[in-house]
Amino acid sequence: MSTLQKNKNILFILTGSIACYKVVQVISSLVKENFNVECVMTSGAQNFIGISTLEGITGNKIYLDLYESGYAMAHISLVRRADLIVVAPATANYINKIAQGVGDDLASTLFLAYDFKKPFLIFPAMNVAMFEHPLTKEAIVKLKKIGICILDTAQGSLACGEEGYGRLLEPEEILRKIKEHLNLKEFQPIKFHGDACRILITGGGTVEKIDSVRSITNSSSGNTAVDLANSLSERGFLVTLLLSEQNQRKLSSQVSVRRFLSSSDLDSLCLKELSVKHYDFVIHAAAVSDFSVKEIQINDSAEAIKYDLNKLKMSSESEITLILKKNKKIISDLKNYSLNQNVKIIAFKLMPKSSQIDIETAVRKVFNHSGVSFVVHNSVEDLVAQKDSRKFSIYSTNKGNIESQQVDGVSGLAHQISMLMVGG
Ligand SMILES: Cc1cc2nc3c(=O)[nH]c(=O)nc-3n(C[C@H](O)[C@H](O)[C@H](O)COP(=O)(O)O)c2cc1C
Repeated sequence: MSTLQKNKNILFILTGSIACYKVVQVISSLVKENFNVECVMTSGAQNFIGISTLEGITGNKIYLDLYESGYAMAHISLVRRADLIVVAPATANYINKIAQGVGDDLASTLFLAYDFKKPFLIFPAMNVAMFEHPLTKEAIVKLKKIGICILDTAQGSLACGEEGYGRLLEPEEILRKIKEHLNLKEFQPIKFHGDACRILITGGGTVEKIDSVRSITNSSSGNTAVDLANSLSERGFLVTLLLSEQNQRKLSSQVSVRRFLSSSDLDSLCLKELSVKHYDFVIHAAAVSDFSVKEIQINDSAEAIKYDLNKLKMSSESEITLILKKNKKIISDLKNYSLNQNVKIIAFKLMPKSSQIDIETAVRKVFNHSGVSFVVHNSVEDLVAQKDSRKFSIYSTNKGNIESQQVDGVSGLAHQISMLMVGG
């Protein structure tokens, strides 16, 4: 993994949002990476997670009360010894309060004692209406003006059941931001046979045009590929990601991205990358369409029209029949394209819920036809699960026998893949 400067002190302020549980994971990861984390909880935060949980994880005292006997100067000393201060999750109440200069508890008084020399990061978490409230907006602008870093929120379904902005960023993203602000971005690549280990990842669904405005596509989001790319790059691999145009997820600045639309675009990009650069691994997670449009028949004219997907916009007056042609299997060509003939390929096999025998038969077929080293299997039914609860099985072959290993979540998958890579 990339070398990070250790022994930094992080002061973590947790306020009364339902998203407190997400932050426990962030704190636990920081402690595992040898950061010293000290926590302050508002009385609101104590309703959502236990004081003992944080005490157990950090190994440090948890600060709750401005007037606690023996720690009366904590509002000064905590800020002084911190290298970076994080407020996550930050409630609407906290943001509005500190923007007014109110210091009526330990968490808000810490902000008044802040010396503006070190990063102060605020990760808001709230309902969309609270986030878009004119006073909250005004408070955010005010804090930004005086140099406080207020991070974006994510868009999506909120704990209250509503949709919109205001959702706390995911733990991995919070971790990344904290490290960025501590200037721990220095990239130290993992070496493989003496050189930086280079990985090509493909992700997302392809779009096959029917005419200039219509297309055939699939429901693959490309998010697993983005998470793998971010996570592997954070671990020190040099990652290039070939990603479908539709995916707009945030990527680590270390990941190089090229975009594709159709399966033939993706095929060309694979050729272009693999034939000129030495890649050690390819993770082929893109959902490539098996078919593209060969011909369109307008049913009442009884004749096929010449297929020109860029010019034509079909009339909707008549029924049409699409004649589809089979697309090539990109995965079978990856080794042929590759400058490095020892490149190792990891294929993905998404299947509807199936018996173990059927899964192994399908996986064996991928091994036999594509010359891949590993196959990651997951099931369609599992796609709705949160990314860290998804189940993946990594298959490999050993003297003709198939072996598998189950991993939980996309971060577990990234970890296991990196172990396979480093282990050779
Ligand atoms: C179940 C529940 C969930 C809440 N979640 C949030 C939240 O995500 N964001 C927020 O700004 N306030 C939330 N609140 C309201 C705050 O807890 C409340 O404004 C409190 O005064 C915040 O205090 P503090 O941030 O200073 O600790 C929630 C309240 C309840 C009862």
